[in-house]
Amino acid sequence: MPSKVVVGVQWGDEGKGKIIDILAQEAQVVVRAQGGNNAGHTVEQGGEVYKLRTVPSGILYPDTLCLIGNGVVVNPGSLLAEMDGLEARGISCANLWIDPRAHVIMPWHPLIDGLAEDARDEAHRIGTTRNGIGPCYMDKAERSGLRIWDLVHEEVFRKKARIAGEEKNRLITKLYGAQPMDLDAIIEEYVGYGKRLASHVADVSVLVYNSYNEGKKILFEGAQGTLLDLDMGTYPFVTSSHPVAGGFAIGSGVGPRMIDEVIGVAKAYTTRVGEGPFPTELFDEVGQLIRDKGHEYGTVTGRPRRTGWFDAVILRYAVRVNGLTQLAVNKLDTLAGVGDLKVCTAYELPDGTRLTEYPESLEVLADCKPVYETIPGFTEDISGCRSFDELPESCRSYIAELERLCGCRITMVGVGPAREQNLVRA
Ligand code: GDP
Ligand code: IMO
Ligand code: MG
Repeated sequence: MPSKVVVGVQWGDEGKGKIIDILAQEAQVVVRAQGGNNAGHTVEQGGEVYKLRTVPSGILYPDTLCLIGNGVVVNPGSLLAEMDGLEARGISCANLWIDPRAHVIMPWHPLIDGLAEDARDEAHRIGTTRNGIGPCYMDKAERSGLRIWDLVHEEVFRKKARIAGEEKNRLITKLYGAQPMDLDAIIEEYVGYGKRLASHVADVSVLVYNSYNEGKKILFEGAQGTLLDLDMGTYPFVTSSHPVAGGFAIGSGVGPRMIDEVIGVAKAYTTRVGEGPFPTELFDEVGQLIRDKGHEYGTVTGRPRRTGWFDAVILRYAVRVNGLTQLAVNKLDTLAGVGDLKVCTAYELPDGTRLTEYPESLEVLADCKPVYETIPGFTEDISGCRSFDELPESCRSYIAELERLCGCRITMVGVGPAREQNLVRA
């Protein structure tokens, strides 16, 4: 199987970065295909912690090609800061390449993201990361965006950035009543970024296609998660890209036949950061215990993550919409000592109807009450286990039950953030 997609199957932060880093030991290429610096992927190696935003999580391997595909939105200042930070820690970014078609996050995008969020009332606020992701994808869809190719061609960039910036200044001043941006300063700053990034631009579609045909192993690194997908997620409380497996072909410029396997990544419970529905959310001390034990605070924004029980309805949905071939379940160690474990097996409507498929409308979802199955918990510290068979019987039963309810093989179980804390299940 030369290529694998690693996709989040809940609301993001499932531990995709860790799984990519582990699988990258046997891969030659790692590709990001959507999202931008709203992502925060943690990789731990030898006691060092790396928090990656736009750089693919294969970067710790010096010979691995790390590609940023056409579907990603790139904040050049943030990317360069990330690259500088890695280089300062002895991690080379020489093998990092960005597709010229990827769109550029300009300073007006985070500004408008924040202004739009502030203008929404509490019920409609999305809780975005305020990195300008939505506004940048809006410009892409509206066909007025700037691309990496433009950024590295100074004369073209100067003209296009001025036209776009003047239009944004009208929006910012007239609609939001905010101060206009200094376009001269922005253009100079970005011309500088373009000069620095020029040597990292290459056609990612060609690189992925050729690598695949040469039999090289390719990993497609998902950002965000299935329930944050623009179409398949809890719209409008979603991100503006396509984190589901189908997004990877479009976002890296190759056909879907170049994806051989789809690995879903879940937590052994559920978290969500930002607003929007979350049927199994816990508001009690168990939820707080999981937050504290699991250090559930956002990698990007530091916001406390909302926590809740594992939701098998969501997982079955993710199996279907991504075509999962296997599942990795992280953070089982966090559940030690929280008492009996609950798993949501279905939703119940006020009239008693049971739903086993995830509903498409938030209005229906709002009426859904989770139906739980209770599974005995465990108290043992399992973070030292190094094989699946070393886990206590209660943990193995929990995983077997999740597997049965989700309808997908669980092949990896996480008992800690480090590479060696990933237990492969035969
Ligand atoms: P990503 O966005 O999907 O890459 O996930 P994040 O990095 O945002 O959040 C996952 C967090 O959980 C990180 O701090 C990881 O180091 C940590 N983590 C991953 N797997 C495990 C695990 O099995 N156990 C524990 N305790 N932490 C884990
Ligand atoms: P990784 O890749 C968790 C959430 C935000 C917000 C919504 C829209 O680390 O799993 P955006 O800034 O994208 O317009 O925000 O999506 N969100 C994430 N939540 N993990 C992420 O990425 C996320 N990226 C965006 O909190 O609810
Ligand atoms: Mg994250």
